[in-house]
Amino acid sequence: MPKLVAAQFIDTLLQRAELVDIIDKQVPLKKAGTNYKGLCPFHNEKTPSFTVYPQQQTYHCYGCGAHGNAITFLREHNNLDFNEAVEELASSCGLEVEYDESIEAQPSQPKSDDLYTVLQQVSQFYQQQLQHTPQALDYFQQRGLSAEIIDTYELGYAPQAWDSVLKQFGTDAQHIQQLIDVGLLLEKQESQRRYDRFRHRVLFPIHDQKGRVIAFGGRVLDDSKPKYLNSPETPLFQKNHELYGWHLVKKQKDLQRVVIVEGYMDVAILAQFEVKNAVATLGTATSIEHLNRLFRVVPEIIFCFDGDAAGYKAAKRALEIALPVLFDGRQIRFAFLPDGDDPDSFVRQYGKTQFEAYLDQAKLLSTFLFEEYLLNDIDPAQPHTPESIANLKRTAEKNIIPLLEQLPKNSEYYRLMFKRLEEISANLGFEGANFKKSSKLTKNKQTQSEIKRASKSIPSLAEKALRLLIQMPSLAEEVEQLDKFQYVQDEKASLLIRLVEFIHRNPHVNTAIILEHWQDTKELNYLTSLSLHTHLLSEQEILQEFTSAMEQLQYCSSVRQRKHSLLEKIKQGIATASELQALEQLYKDEAQLFKLR
Ligand code: GTP
Ligand code: MN
Repeated sequence: MPKLVAAQFIDTLLQRAELVDIIDKQVPLKKAGTNYKGLCPFHNEKTPSFTVYPQQQTYHCYGCGAHGNAITFLREHNNLDFNEAVEELASSCGLEVEYDESIEAQPSQPKSDDLYTVLQQVSQFYQQQLQHTPQALDYFQQRGLSAEIIDTYELGYAPQAWDSVLKQFGTDAQHIQQLIDVGLLLEKQESQRRYDRFRHRVLFPIHDQKGRVIAFGGRVLDDSKPKYLNSPETPLFQKNHELYGWHLVKKQKDLQRVVIVEGYMDVAILAQFEVKNAVATLGTATSIEHLNRLFRVVPEIIFCFDGDAAGYKAAKRALEIALPVLFDGRQIRFAFLPDGDDPDSFVRQYGKTQFEAYLDQAKLLSTFLFEEYLLNDIDPAQPHTPESIANLKRTAEKNIIPLLEQLPKNSEYYRLMFKRLEEISANLGFEGANFKKSSKLTKNKQTQSEIKRASKSIPSLAEKALRLLIQMPSLAEEVEQLDKFQYVQDEKASLLIRLVEFIHRNPHVNTAIILEHWQDTKELNYLTSLSLHTHLLSEQEILQEFTSAMEQLQYCSSVRQRKHSLLEKIKQGIATASELQALEQLYKDEAQLFKLR
């Protein structure tokens, strides 16, 4: 008897999972606008009609109609049953599946995946080689790494030969092909001769979230070049997705922040000094996927860069990449080490406490942004002149606004950053500068008569609001008093109200979670079809459309409410002549408003 996964846990899981990551591992996806496209894995096609919607966390194939969320994808694509799909997904998110007080455990044999097995075996081989190579052991020792850290990080050594791995593991054509596929063997084009990629290097195995070895980074033992050599990207390894050391960091209890450093060695040395929340990018810039992966687990990321020009440049690049994912509750800071230091040398010289104190004082992204893109241009020695102030204002418009516009539009952070810009500009003397693009919907409240003129039937208004809401659930925050809608009770309007209530109770849901909740209801197909409507509106416009539809619905409700109370008065014989007249008008309004389609 399979155990029952707790319903609440499914929500958490769909919250955490990054559908694009999951699908992209198996189906190559290309970015197309805000979405991703690829060849549909569920039917045969030559042009991509398979679309993944990151905001909704759903996928849809316009060719064969395949549709679903992360769980459906794993079930249907990887042939897993529901529990297996949930387990697979949970482990890739670093979560432990929660079951309803369970009935009985089902013994599940983990399927051994060949390429992972190959990498694991080779990694063990490299670890053994390290133990038999005093020169390599000395190298790690001289860098200050203990046997324990070497063990924890599974560090190894690739012998000085062209065929150590080839001889040991390339026992037949199939194994050789696997070794080539995972990047451990290279093949000479002309001669088809194969040889080991890693030779005479100490090795840092790179693990995925689940702790499986997927690649290696290898360092020379002296000053020769290239200093580091990494595995190429393979089906199992994508640099943009993986972070060195994350599989260990993730296990820390009460993890509050993660530090991103530049090197493998930095991560290992920091761990040696008991700093156990550092990860490194793999010789690439930080990507959105990296940030999302970390932010799903911790609220704060601290970038730790060198204090030189290159460090500042890298920080600006990281800032520009990070802005679109800075939803409320997520925070980024930058720590710049003293010039000439990297985390390794710093922590060895000053120790854990000092290093952490350094991180505590790291610069907030907001501070860094205004300093780096505006305030640093100001020469305090120069007097303020109309010309210099006008220049600054132009810099602000040109440099800062495009950055701020990348922040999530619905967020408090977006609003506050614009407010901060206004404050700074007032201090600098360009008063009255109006940087804020009209943003808050409350400013755009329409008058009753405008609403009346624009009004459409309730079902079509409700459908419009539903369509927007299911694609952007955070819109529910805009709806405050649900009782104001109690007189619009057709099928679509009541579904809309139920959906708003649902999102109020579960504020962080995405489209995939909503659809999962409506899974076995008659409304599922309708909601699914609404979720597929793409609208070419900006977030700002979506917000306006939604509030306008909701205001119109509210107006409809109030018309009906007035009618009800007038009818009540008439029944009691206390209605005045003008009230009777008003009632007539209300009937007319209602006929127009409640027209069913
Ligand atoms: P150590 O000299 O061992 O302390 O290295 P480090 O961690 O201080 O390295 P450095 O700051 O030079 O580089 C940081 C990261 O950039 C490394 O961990 C690698 O991922 C990458 N990197 C550095 N040098 C090379 C190189 O020559 N080739 C490649 N592919 N990557 C490199
Ligand atoms: Mn270093």
